[in-house]
Amino acid sequence: MSNIKRRDFLGKSGVAVAGSVLINPITSMASKTTSQAEKKKLALVGTGIRGSSFWGKRIVQQYGDITEFVGLCDNNPGRVEFAKGYMGVDCPTYTDFEKMMIETKPDMLIVTTVDATHHEFIVKGLRMGVDVLTEKPLTTDEHKCAEIIKAEQETGKKLIVGFNYRYGTQPTALKKLLVNNEVGKITSVDFNWYLNVYHGASYFRRWHGLRDKGGTLLVHKATHHFDLLNWLIDSDPVEVFAFGNLEHYGKNHKFRGQKCRGCEFKEKCKFYWDITRDKMMMDLYVANEEHDGYIRDNCLWREEIDIFDKMSVQIKYANDVQVSYSLTTYSPYEGWRIAFNGFNGRIDSWEGIPWRKEEKLTQAELHTKEMDQSVEEDHSPNYEEAVTMKNFGDYKKIEIRASKGGHGGGDQLLQDRIFVNPDLPDPYKHAAGSRDGVMSIMIGIAARKSIDENRLVRIEELTSLKPSVKRL
Ligand SMILES: NC(=O)c1ccc[n+]([C@@H]2O[C@H](COP(=O)([O-])OP(=O)(O)OC[C@H]3O[C@@H](n4cnc5c(N)ncnc54)[C@H](O)[C@@H]3O)[C@@H](O)[C@H]2O)c1
Repeated sequence: MSNIKRRDFLGKSGVAVAGSVLINPITSMASKTTSQAEKKKLALVGTGIRGSSFWGKRIVQQYGDITEFVGLCDNNPGRVEFAKGYMGVDCPTYTDFEKMMIETKPDMLIVTTVDATHHEFIVKGLRMGVDVLTEKPLTTDEHKCAEIIKAEQETGKKLIVGFNYRYGTQPTALKKLLVNNEVGKITSVDFNWYLNVYHGASYFRRWHGLRDKGGTLLVHKATHHFDLLNWLIDSDPVEVFAFGNLEHYGKNHKFRGQKCRGCEFKEKCKFYWDITRDKMMMDLYVANEEHDGYIRDNCLWREEIDIFDKMSVQIKYANDVQVSYSLTTYSPYEGWRIAFNGFNGRIDSWEGIPWRKEEKLTQAELHTKEMDQSVEEDHSPNYEEAVTMKNFGDYKKIEIRASKGGHGGGDQLLQDRIFVNPDLPDPYKHAAGSRDGVMSIMIGIAARKSIDENRLVRIEELTSLKPSVKRL
């Protein structure tokens, strides 16, 4: 048995309510590949921070009795060797993906490479007869997306997208309020996401700052937020209009260096980051720069950055709900707020607003905690809130126990469902498949196109999947 007990999982996930077992991508994948006597054979491509820790070491520690890594691959030979030791596995390592797949014959491929390369491994994995679990975003443009849909349809193999945010305690609480029709038919949603000067800046230091690697933050980051919207609104997007600009990072600054290490501006740059103080960053990236020139503490003022650092998006859904969304990347604090406007009232919720915290954390500490992928639980007494208010009525405050470790607690619940309890009922449809992956990136891709071409973009221009009034 795994060291996560089934009853613990039921309690934490809040999904142990009566309801029929729904067929979902995770269930169907698990039932085809695992028998109780066998360990699920995993191969992983992309042994960076997410691959080696959350989808690597964490799986070994938490699910080592039911899974087994049979191969690790990265185009950086030093990083893949480091990952092997860090994860504590003794499987072979590769720089040649196809060789790994042929030699190791995995049950499941985990894809955690740079976003713009996901499609290559997803398509090859599916076509080699293997189920695939990919990190978000599914991919970065509509052409690569079409290749993925085709491969999934032609092979009948399954694809899971690692949407961890859905599993967080707060989104789950909001989903329950909406499913219970708390304020009547929802007609519009206001959603604002704020990345602070630590987390927001981190995207501009590395490959995420380049559109051809991460597809802009409208795809790389906002895929999480658009997936939450699609899931909560329970409909597919049909039309998108957006504004965006790069005004703060990149070429806008008056000075720039090569990288933070040894930078002549280190005393006067508020964004100076000393990577040498972080052993993991040094071992994973700096020690392996010689192989591929990947500089983890790159200057965030470099001229080549070509993504937006402020974005606002209007979305119309097939069920007529309209959304106003914004993403900010240099906020003094990290957090989000959302409001659902219904015929009979309004639901408000917010996360991370600093002046209401009992337990004060600096923004730097908050970023470290948010990114924490260790297995320890957060026992802080803190909670987040939702408020429902009926028209002509009084407000009702709901306290939602905050779970800060690993994306609002979503990281652990996602893995528990995939590896421990794939057959549990899924009444709120947390499990995400390829269609969810497609529909969330479609909003980001449409928004990018809308900004580039200054026009409204219809989702049907970008994908053969037909938007549905109620999510399929
Ligand atoms: N769900 C989440 O909350 C979450 C959080 C962090 C990262 N991610 C996702 O995880 C993925 C990895 O992110 P990261 O932060 O670990 O990045 P990273 O840069 O640390 O790791 C990416 C790795 O991919 C390797 N790579 C790149 N191109 C390759 C290729 N063609 N073949 C083989 N290996 C290749 C790189 O060498 C590197 O080791 C991204 O898709 C990111 O969006 C998701």
